Amino acid sequence: MNICVLLGGASPERNVSITSGKAVGQALTSLGYTVFYVDPSTPWHQMDQFRSMLESFDVTDNHFDDMAHRDERVFIEHIREMKAMKTDVVFNALHGGTGENGMIAAVLEIAGIPYTGSGPLASALAMDKYLSKVLAEKAGVQTGRVARITGETQINPDALTFPLVIKPNSAGSSVGLHVLMEPCDIRPLIKDALTYDPVILVEEYIPGQELTVPVVGGEAFPLIEILPEGGVYTFETKYTSGKSRYLVPAPLADDVTQSLKEKALRIWNILGLESYARIDFRLKNGYEAYFLEANSLPGMTATSLLPKSANVMGMDFPTLTDWIIRDALK
Ligand code: DAL
Ligand code: MG
Repeated sequence: MNICVLLGGASPERNVSITSGKAVGQALTSLGYTVFYVDPSTPWHQMDQFRSMLESFDVTDNHFDDMAHRDERVFIEHIREMKAMKTDVVFNALHGGTGENGMIAAVLEIAGIPYTGSGPLASALAMDKYLSKVLAEKAGVQTGRVARITGETQINPDALTFPLVIKPNSAGSSVGLHVLMEPCDIRPLIKDALTYDPVILVEEYIPGQELTVPVVGGEAFPLIEILPEGGVYTFETKYTSGKSRYLVPAPLADDVTQSLKEKALRIWNILGLESYARIDFRLKNGYEAYFLEANSLPGMTATSLLPKSANVMGMDFPTLTDWIIRDALK
């Protein structure tokens, strides 16, 4: 079976996606699938060069950004090439941007090429943190107080309650994230977050534990508690080895675990997610869950969160990628 692994893309999570895509490709190759890699933002005539650069890729390697990293308009041309290569399934290992917000999924849908993960609408809703919170509340899952802000919004500094969190509405991997424990001038931080997204969120900071619920095929998998160095889960603590500790399964009381799983599935259902996703929460006082966001394309290296949890279920990384491929063909 021919599998096209989509990786890279033009979002700020380009490097994270290349890490996921390489891991997925290697796992699928080890299972006997025929794998080829496609970056939706690299012109086709440069794809061989892109593929040879993959060999030595490292997540902190900024030089890789010089290669293409413009936009994904060239992807429309790639569709013809992918069909000529008799692609049976696309494994979408993109993160952020058009890869995660449903646009790439929509193009594949129209092209009639089966692809992994959620469909266009669920992806778009999950990518929009504000809308997902609105829907979560509708599903009876509480979220912290949140304000949706654009470059035009007038902010009254006296109305702010610290600690608070500033983040782009539709980005991942904590890019543009600022956690402010003490009162300060938030304008430069808002400006920074706005460089990633024209819409940003100013959220209530929820003290407590950082937890995530992986969901695979509509089943909530073992919860993970994240213990980042310094207490805040930033890009650096996410992707630097040893800078975060993970407890799988999270050491919570059974009723708290069950309640978080049940809330994660309510979010999964209201957003219409499919195949696999990861739902993030903060837990206050050891039992009060606040929904943060849903990730329709969670990190997919062998040491990423959802694969760690699947492993506890007896599903090793290649088996997980195989399950995702089979699910895409159902
Ligand atoms: N956005 C990153 C890849 C995650 O959710 O795991
Ligand atoms: Mg995310």
